[in-house]
Amino acid sequence: MHALQTLISALPKAELHLHLEGSLEPEMMFELAKRNGVELKYASVEDIRAAYDFSNLQDFLDLYYQGMGVLLKEQDYYDLTAAYLARAAADNVRHVEVFFDPQAHMERGVAFDTVLKGIRRALEDGFIRHNISFRLIMCVLRHLSEEDALALMDVATPYLDQIDGLGLDSSELGHPPSKFKRVYDKASLLGLKLVAHAGEEGPPDYVWEALNDLRIDRIDHGNAAAKDEKLLEHLIESGMTLTMCPLSNQRLCVTPDLKDNPLAKLLRAGVRVTVNSDDPSYFGGYVNDNYLAIADALDMTAPEMVQLARNSFIGSFLPDAEKEKYLDEIDAVDSELLG
Ligand code: ADE
Ligand code: ZN
Repeated sequence: MHALQTLISALPKAELHLHLEGSLEPEMMFELAKRNGVELKYASVEDIRAAYDFSNLQDFLDLYYQGMGVLLKEQDYYDLTAAYLARAAADNVRHVEVFFDPQAHMERGVAFDTVLKGIRRALEDGFIRHNISFRLIMCVLRHLSEEDALALMDVATPYLDQIDGLGLDSSELGHPPSKFKRVYDKASLLGLKLVAHAGEEGPPDYVWEALNDLRIDRIDHGNAAAKDEKLLEHLIESGMTLTMCPLSNQRLCVTPDLKDNPLAKLLRAGVRVTVNSDDPSYFGGYVNDNYLAIADALDMTAPEMVQLARNSFIGSFLPDAEKEKYLDEIDAVDSELLG
């Protein structure tokens, strides 16, 4: 067994970058297709897995939007979310801040209310069953127009007591954060937390725009920051959190060789880096797999694993008292296992 595996498993962790639709395992895709009478282009679970060979983000997104076509009823969203939470609990994940993509369901005729109800009910049950606390972040698809995003905000406004944050995802190149400035201004006025995917495939300028134009509270990915010394300094000084996803970066050819992933460099420079699974069913690993993979590839130490787990709570949207509770638990694991 890997020397750090016991420590990684024992550490309480928060997962801050997880697309619920990206946790749809091929087995469940098959089951839901059958239940809902949806025809899949694949003959077997093995066929689906074999198709997950991506050259870039768009390649993946094409299959991601196709795969979620089996999600139609409230119970489907419940089952999807419940399965993710059970898997997260097995990795000792104690708090999750999960994304969902309402536009990708509404354009197929599924009501916003149906999606939200299924997800929320599973999150609330997961808190009882697994003691996993949660926040829910609604994402805007950046390949669609600003007008579409503003229309989504209108649909979501009556439900704001059930949504904690706004995010921005989908095809990054050609869709800079500034395209959604008015949407983020509105979300900020409504009291939502703000995050955005930036610098995954896009340049450092997109990260600057997310910070300066969208006024985000947290950056999703942010790999490009390693290429811009000024940006790096700014992230360190401002205590900004990055939700990084190493196995995703590998599978989407952002950094095909894990040894080139900037995560350790950023952490060692003093950036508040966290480790997350992004779309685990498509990228071959849940959160502990991501910790282990970078520990191996980047020669990371046990204290660095502890720091990453600490960062996951510090960078979360939990109140300070809750953060302290989890940090104390991490300290206890640290003393017990590392002395
Ligand atoms: N939607 C789901 N996963 C994504 C990712 N890694 N980047 C952008 N959009 C996404
Ligand atoms: Zn993502």
